[in-house]
Amino acid sequence: MSPDAHGRPPSYARVSLAIMTSGREANLLGNIHGGEIVKLADSTAGAVAQRHSGGPAVTAALDEMAFLEPVHVGDIVRTFGQVNWAGRSSMEIGVRVEAQPWNDPSTTGLHVASAYFVFVAIDEDGHAREVPALLPETPKEVRRMREAEIRRAHRLARRAEIESGRAGT
Ligand SMILES: CC(C)(COP(=O)(O)OP(=O)(O)OC[C@H]1O[C@@H](n2cnc3c(N)ncnc32)[C@H](O)[C@@H]1OP(=O)(O)O)[C@@H](O)C(=O)NCCC(=O)NCCS
Repeated sequence: MSPDAHGRPPSYARVSLAIMTSGREANLLGNIHGGEIVKLADSTAGAVAQRHSGGPAVTAALDEMAFLEPVHVGDIVRTFGQVNWAGRSSMEIGVRVEAQPWNDPSTTGLHVASAYFVFVAIDEDGHAREVPALLPETPKEVRRMREAEIRRAHRLARRAEIESGRAGT
């Protein structure tokens, strides 16, 4: 029996990325462009999905990206990503983004954004393929999985309702 047969815990695929921001990523207000944060979070989630599923995975959806604080030029931006939920071929990846001034190690990372990504594992033909189950190990991971199931139910219901509305027009 393969080591993946019973699934993988969230800790298996956890990924953290970091960049030091510069004027190249600034918007017209002089802060870091939100799209740069989205891209870094998407890259983090992609690495998590690849690790958990053991192969290629693509972004299928992104929802609830909340920007809580501005990120300033010169901040070190760090992401923390992990699988919250895994289905047949899709996974919800949660990404937390923190910022810290590059020259001040005395401050703790400020929580500046969070996002939930849906990734789908694909085979060489681009078709959805099965992923290992997720085996939460801590109460926090169980809570994340439960909340991810609620978000998934809402996503699928919203999509189904929109599609049925379009079919009737
Ligand atoms: C993602 C993709 C592979 C899904 O293909 P599909 O034919 O819809 O696949 P399925 O209908 O079999 O769905 C596969 C899984 O994805 C989930 N899914 C697909 N779209 C979803 C969405 N918008 N929101 C939530 N889940 C979604 C399904 O619920 C299913 O989950 P499960 O297998 O865990 O039950 C396909 O839409 C695709 O290739 N999209 C482009 C992805 C891409 O290029 N991303 C980069 C951004 S440019």
